[in-house]
Amino acid sequence: MSLAGRELILGVTGSIAAYKAVYLLRELTRLGAAVTVCLSEHAREFVGPLTFRTLSGRPVLTNLFDPQSPDAVEHVALAERADAIVVAPATANLLAKAAHGLADDFLTTLLLAARGPVVIAPAMDGGMWEHPAVVANVATLRARGVAVLEPDAGALASGLSGKGRFPEPDAIVEAIRRALTPVRDLAGERLLVTAGPTREPVDPVRYLSNRSSGRMGYGLAAADPRQALADALGALGATLRHHRDLGTTELGLEGQYLLGPDEALRAQEQALQGCRKCKLCEGRTTIVFGAGSPRAEFVVIGEGPGADEDAQGLPFVGRAGQLLTKMLESPGVGFTRDEAYVSNTVKCRPPGNRNPEAEELAACAPVLAAQLAALQPKVILALGSVAAQSLLGTKEAIGRLRGRVHPYGSAVLIPTFHPAFLLRNPGQEYKRMAWEDLKLARREYDQRRTR
Ligand SMILES: Cc1cc2nc3c(=O)[nH]c(=O)nc-3n(C[C@H](O)[C@H](O)[C@H](O)COP(=O)(O)O)c2cc1C
Ligand code: SF4
Repeated sequence: MSLAGRELILGVTGSIAAYKAVYLLRELTRLGAAVTVCLSEHAREFVGPLTFRTLSGRPVLTNLFDPQSPDAVEHVALAERADAIVVAPATANLLAKAAHGLADDFLTTLLLAARGPVVIAPAMDGGMWEHPAVVANVATLRARGVAVLEPDAGALASGLSGKGRFPEPDAIVEAIRRALTPVRDLAGERLLVTAGPTREPVDPVRYLSNRSSGRMGYGLAAADPRQALADALGALGATLRHHRDLGTTELGLEGQYLLGPDEALRAQEQALQGCRKCKLCEGRTTIVFGAGSPRAEFVVIGEGPGADEDAQGLPFVGRAGQLLTKMLESPGVGFTRDEAYVSNTVKCRPPGNRNPEAEELAACAPVLAAQLAALQPKVILALGSVAAQSLLGTKEAIGRLRGRVHPYGSAVLIPTFHPAFLLRNPGQEYKRMAWEDLKLARREYDQRRTR
């Protein structure tokens, strides 16, 4: 990427490496950038403004209150318009002032006026770079979005060796390019990653193909565990299995996307052992992953394991579980064990049977997403408000969510009351509604099932 048409401000501070800013300026102008140089008072002790003026073809900014200099206000306006400000080299002093918002000279005033990205290339003695004050200032600046480069390691001007050398101009130019390239926010987008070889038919019998391993697409997809990618991976897994079943032997992939649902679920459960991603790990006896047929296209999702489930390592084995079995097998519903897979939104028991908290649900959501990607269900029955609300991403009450079919990726989701709630509220009305929901699930399942 050229820097043609880019308006940059190059700040130079009082480091022994200040002369290297001359090479950087030459490179920036060679790439087409228009550069205004601003020297700190101490930088002038190292390199005179004339060199910078000659190379940039512009006046050099130094003294904010110089009556000979063009209007300072105009230059502050320039900082607002600049595409980026680059401070190279930056002293420990400059890092401290920038981190704390001081504006006691031209350069630090420009930094506060800047609207564009700021790139800082520090240079200092090794001991200084590691000083806790400098470490804290760098962390503050980075947290604010400033691109502070790591100095290089090697021989330093002090005669010592360590980390503190001015980074190479190429690395600084690269950081400027990155800062100038807007990053698109992909939040909320649905992504489909394709991978593997393509086949171009030559005639009805022959085709042209290539030796693509699919690793790149697979790596891209595995980089983000969000639901959208889980969906994509589910589809990808089905495609890859299809290739394998056709006898394609050159995919050369490892990982669970090539596995059948039973192997994938086993691998997921194994990988989850010892999980400490949320504080529910503290009180659990076992991780209750899920149970049922891996070929099930009907998945039941509850809230979280209770005491019986925690003790046995299986979901829905207590009184609520017995009621669930009765409901699933009831007349007009009639799901068999082989048709259902049962799991929960969190896999570890919340203490005292409390509801899982938002951060616990968020921590465990990728586990459920991966399970669903392996199972590829057609109908999901969500038991109770916690499961229904977290899966649908809503705060609507279960009484309003139930009785309806909600689209859920390539499946549909039907919320209903949790059997534990039905045990506590024996009113016939709630049981009747739950039974209606189960019959709805049965109808949807009969229409959508493929096995
Ligand atoms: C010969 C010499 C070399 C210096 N080199 C550095 C350096 O590489 N990095 C640094 O942080 N300070 C260095 N300093 C100290 C700074 O010049 C000093 O902290 C000064 O106040 C920085 O002012 P400024 O940030 O406004 O330019 C050096 C000082 C001298 C005398
Ligand atoms: S609830 Fe889920 S995320 Fe939290 S510790 Fe258990 S398995 Fe890990």
